Amino acid sequence: MSMSANNTVTVDGLSIPLLGFGTWQLKGNDARRMVGEALRIGYRHIDTAFIYENETEVGQGIKDSGVAREDFHLTTKIWVTNLTRDALLKQAEESAERLGSTPDLLLLHWPKPQPDLAETIAALNEAKDKGLTRAIGLSNYPSALWQQAQDLSSAKLVTNQVEYHPLLTINALKTKAKELASSLTAWSPLARGKVLNEPVITEIAKKYGKTAGQVTLRWITQQGIIAIPKTSSAERARENFDIFDFALTEDEVARIAGLANGFRVGDHLDPAFQWDAD
Ligand SMILES: NC(=O)c1ccc[n+]([C@@H]2O[C@H](COP(=O)([O-])OP(=O)(O)OC[C@H]3O[C@@H](n4cnc5c(N)ncnc54)[C@H](OP(=O)(O)O)[C@@H]3O)[C@@H](O)[C@H]2O)c1
Repeated sequence: MSMSANNTVTVDGLSIPLLGFGTWQLKGNDARRMVGEALRIGYRHIDTAFIYENETEVGQGIKDSGVAREDFHLTTKIWVTNLTRDALLKQAEESAERLGSTPDLLLLHWPKPQPDLAETIAALNEAKDKGLTRAIGLSNYPSALWQQAQDLSSAKLVTNQVEYHPLLTINALKTKAKELASSLTAWSPLARGKVLNEPVITEIAKKYGKTAGQVTLRWITQQGIIAIPKTSSAERARENFDIFDFALTEDEVARIAGLANGFRVGDHLDPAFQWDAD
């Protein structure tokens, strides 16, 4: 992975903006409106998934925005009921249709013990070879399983999208991302609002004339980790996007990391697997 001055990370030739717009829980017209707003504000990365039931509206918001398709990154995900070859290819085709264009990145949303990982990874590669996505990757894969998946994959798995914010450590995943020359994407980067009242963060925010949310998003992206905050408000979307005009000191980065207490906002990992201890 390389990080460049224009706030993107590049993995295997795919350039991914470090700040994306998350769309989980945005339904119907809210999804359409907010995707349009996000692209108008300047976001160049949109995150959705089959299970969010908003791919059609995300596609409409994209159209409304007038932003050219080649000017932004679009991710969607394969739901866990679609991990056999045929189901995966069918969903990949239908997702692209709903979105109105080929996604840049197609992720496996969560790992499952069945069907065999080899079948799913081969199907994901087939989806890429068929032009149903530009690149492929994972979400919610612990580090050992990430390695197994990459070993089975001909194409590079360009990201692993996992929960990450100041209350959680993902050190094993960071090490694995480096080993595999891949990237990490942080979901629930604001811990759904739980970090916004942390005194350490609000104090640092005051120093820079920023909000706690902005400091948190800066903290993640400054580490070269992609962040995809969600909001239903254009004003907060603008706030969350305004993080590239200041930088945290090493000491501040460490102080925020010191808040980690193992808190997870959502854990749907199949009991067949285990999160990394650290
Ligand atoms: N791969 C996965 O398994 C997975 C799982 C969960 C999420 N995700 C992705 O990650 C995205 C983000 O995660 P998330 O939605 O769970 O959590 P999040 O982005 O950490 O937090 C969203 C919450 O914070 C509020 N918020 C956002 N910006 C704010 C601001 N500047 N000030 C105050 N409050 C603010 C939002 O409320 P308002 O809407 O009212 O502003 C919303 O309640 C999702 O939309 C989805 O795309 C992926």
